[in-house]
Amino acid sequence: MKLTAEQISFFKDNGYLLLKNVLDLTQCEAVMDRVWDSLPETNHLKKDDPNTHVGPFEVSEEQDSSLNLRMGYRWQVREFSTEPELLDLVFSKNLLGVAEQLLGEDMVEPPVPHGKPMGHAGPAWPGGPVDPADTQGIRGVYCTLPYGDQPREADTGHTDGHPFNLGVVGLLGDVPKEGGAFKVWPRSHRRLYPTFQMQYDQPRIPFYEHLPSHKGIIHSQAYLDELEAVMQDTSPVDCYGEAGDVVLWHHRLAHMAGHNYSRVIRQAVLSDFVRKDLDTCRLDPPQKNMWRDWSTQVQGCNAGYSKAFALEQRLPKELLSAPVEIGT
Ligand SMILES: [Fe+2]
Repeated sequence: MKLTAEQISFFKDNGYLLLKNVLDLTQCEAVMDRVWDSLPETNHLKKDDPNTHVGPFEVSEEQDSSLNLRMGYRWQVREFSTEPELLDLVFSKNLLGVAEQLLGEDMVEPPVPHGKPMGHAGPAWPGGPVDPADTQGIRGVYCTLPYGDQPREADTGHTDGHPFNLGVVGLLGDVPKEGGAFKVWPRSHRRLYPTFQMQYDQPRIPFYEHLPSHKGIIHSQAYLDELEAVMQDTSPVDCYGEAGDVVLWHHRLAHMAGHNYSRVIRQAVLSDFVRKDLDTCRLDPPQKNMWRDWSTQVQGCNAGYSKAFALEQRLPKELLSAPVEIGT
């Protein structure tokens, strides 16, 4: 699988790219079997009975573990994210090939089979998100149970706090529209990128119980203002699709795991592609050329894309009529 100049141009302009039929379906099924096998037999969710799939988990079934979290509507399994079955799914010829086309040949950090899974270090700070420290595989398999009769909730985007280059969300089963697949705010990567102090990283403040107002990541006011503006003026794209479809996304793109108003569990594999030189450039400030660390093909690609292609990619109507210059 090779990306076209049109696909790369769209990715540069909008920060995401939807791709069909990327993951091997037999592998997707095998991975989901592993996920279901991790569920205690006493749980009310039964794989073959969709009527049991509506969330939330009952309080007695919840598990507050970074390696296998079951809480409310979220079921996030990370405990086997360095096992070959999971690594082969993401670091496949197809997907790794595309990642290398974007980040540079032989520039993608390989995973460590049977290494440390995401979540092994617990939360990044008390009450915080999972600590990505020393992660040697994929992020994990993230499921969202259907919300059932829950009232609709607002969409709220964020950017991720840990350093990486290219994100991927792959669907392990069909996810209908409004089914919580993944939501992205197009073009937010180019608006948010310059508001960070560092290209990939973010300053963290220690947590002190006697000084509880600040903990975790420090955001600049410029970032908070721009993110708020994006939420106000840009419609998110719902990355729904069929099993095997993926969305690639830029590390500074605003996104969220969507709300699941469908009747099926959203089953997705999440992973990061990291360049081998991230360790040496993670503290660099945002660059005038925000594509400096991408492949020469990406840097040189300014081919543009057709309106038909943008519609295929579900670009919101307000952006179709407002083309923006692709960054240098
Ligand atoms: Fe995120």
